[in-house]
Amino acid sequence: MKFFVDTANVDDIREINDLGLLDGVTTNPSLIMKSGRDIIEVTKEICSIVEGPVSAEVTAMEYSEMLKEAEVLAKIADNICIKLPLTLDGLKACKALTGDGHQTNVTLCFSANQALLAAKAGATFISPFIGRMDDISLEGMELIAEIRQIYDNYDFQTEILAASVRTVNHVKDAALIGADVVTAPPATLKALVKHPLTDKGLDAFMADWAKTGQSIG
Ligand code: G3P
Repeated sequence: MKFFVDTANVDDIREINDLGLLDGVTTNPSLIMKSGRDIIEVTKEICSIVEGPVSAEVTAMEYSEMLKEAEVLAKIADNICIKLPLTLDGLKACKALTGDGHQTNVTLCFSANQALLAAKAGATFISPFIGRMDDISLEGMELIAEIRQIYDNYDFQTEILAASVRTVNHVKDAALIGADVVTAPPATLKALVKHPLTDKGLDAFMADWAKTGQSIG
């Protein structure tokens, strides 16, 4: 499973990338707003930190305007992945951009049929939003399972990028179902390492080690 971090905060991206566990980054207009920075400038810096795909989202609603914005975004770096909304114009732009050899991420997916369309449009990634479905009492994880089955039935190569991940259990459940990628906020990725028995065990080992009076090396 690939790990993407869902943020436009370069300090957080550097920290997670330095762990050696990061495969890519996802951003969106809200995350750019939170960063307080210019989209081109901050995306360029992110692309210089991370080798894998960096999703940068178009903000136009209409097909030809989307393509114009995609051209600007694609010039930022070779690892840019163009993020497009799940609309008819977005799908049409996805097909055109994929045909031109760009990586694409179709976002704001809330149904299996939408994911089917994105795969037919040749999307590199489809982003189903788990947390936002859970927020309105739908089952985000069931959507991941449905998409996995549909993509496997037809051998679609589009990768399932589990997004709007809010908890460590979202990560585990998406991994059990076989999502190809998970994108999560930095705090959620770091929380994956936490277990009280690990902390307790380490404290006990360190206490006993101190009693030996030894040091290594
Ligand atoms: O990757 C999509 C993500 O940014 C949305 O997350 O928490 O705003 O629903 P959230």
